[in-house]
Amino acid sequence: MIEIKTENISFDEKVKILDQLKEVCSQCTACKLHEGRNNTVWSDGNPNAKIMLIGEAPGHNEDMRGVPFVGRAGQLLDKFLEEHDISRKYDLYICNTVKCRPPENRVPKPEEKDSCRKYLDTQISLIRPKVILLCGSTAVQSMMETKLPISKIRGQWFDGPFGAKMMPIFHPSYLLRNHSLEEGSPRWLMGKDLEEIKKVINK
Ligand code: URA
Ligand code: SF4
Repeated sequence: MIEIKTENISFDEKVKILDQLKEVCSQCTACKLHEGRNNTVWSDGNPNAKIMLIGEAPGHNEDMRGVPFVGRAGQLLDKFLEEHDISRKYDLYICNTVKCRPPENRVPKPEEKDSCRKYLDTQISLIRPKVILLCGSTAVQSMMETKLPISKIRGQWFDGPFGAKMMPIFHPSYLLRNHSLEEGSPRWLMGKDLEEIKKVINK
């Protein structure tokens, strides 16, 4: 990929470069996932956000609309964000480890994530978020050298690229299968993590 200047650029320049990359990505055939896609799924939210959320991969609804986190999991994520007064539109920049939908929503293969990594890395270097939320184990494994399950590391801060702090959080599709709101339950813990994350934007 061409060298891109990512530092000390204006908001307009940043948006222009991101739009150009989105266009390049929409033509990408670097891995097999391109064969089944209807749309590449580039991002949603604010390129100037302090918080970047990285999910796993597009599902059916995302593939149809070309927007991340718009299916059932996305709607649950929206509900959590609203409840904790975090704006999806202004406070977050949302993307995934791969930009094309894997067949039957299977987990993306290592070689697919590797092929798509250049896009994710460029997004990170252009957005330069203060905080990176690693949403689910696929995002965690892409960004961290750990074999620990998400339940052991969620809610903790780790060092990320360009001085960002990274926090693993539960994936909303896991929360779709776990309804309890009791203290210590996954949904309760997600609420706790979002309160911690909120401090970043209110600072
Ligand atoms: N799950 C993800 O990880 N990403 C999406 O965009 C949608 C569902
Ligand atoms: Fe290209 Fe990424 Fe889609 Fe693979 S998943 S074809 S690398 S955009």
